Amino acid sequence: MLVITAFSARADAEKNYLLHCSGCHLPNGIGDPPNTPTLRDTIGKIVATPEGRDYIIRVPGSSQTPMSDQQLADVLNWMLTEFNSETLPKNFEPLSAQEVSSSRGQILADPLKYRARFWPDN
Ligand code: HEC
Repeated sequence: MLVITAFSARADAEKNYLLHCSGCHLPNGIGDPPNTPTLRDTIGKIVATPEGRDYIIRVPGSSQTPMSDQQLADVLNWMLTEFNSETLPKNFEPLSAQEVSSSRGQILADPLKYRARFWPDN
């Protein structure tokens, strides 16, 4: 039962990614740099720290999407495993709905500046 639930959460996450995120980040996540960043490989490194986990929830594209906390957590976890398998830390703990809920309200007003301060090399 648990396996079936996890499987359908993944299928829904992919659908939600395509519906709500791929318009800008493209279906395969490559985006259109420098205007729209890629979601491939880079964010796998960023989520190695608590600030990074928080950051990918707080960027406007994530935090303002019309999805529930659980749906957004599932989409972000899907992106991380689908597009970042090379860089994701081995001990990565999937984001939870609770974590999304507590970070989501603090939308980043200047995500590019914030990112440049914490992850200048990613
Ligand atoms: C309207 C276009 C657009 C949509 C739709 C969009 N994004 Fe973004 N996304 C951006 C832009 C532009 C940035 C760069 C930061 C900024 O200016 O907000 C970004 C940055 C990000 C980042 C940070 C990447 C990094 O390397 O710093 C993540 C994570 C992200 N988006 C996730 C999502 C998710 C998840 C969705 C769907 C729920 C989504 N985005 C939908 C345009 C979009």
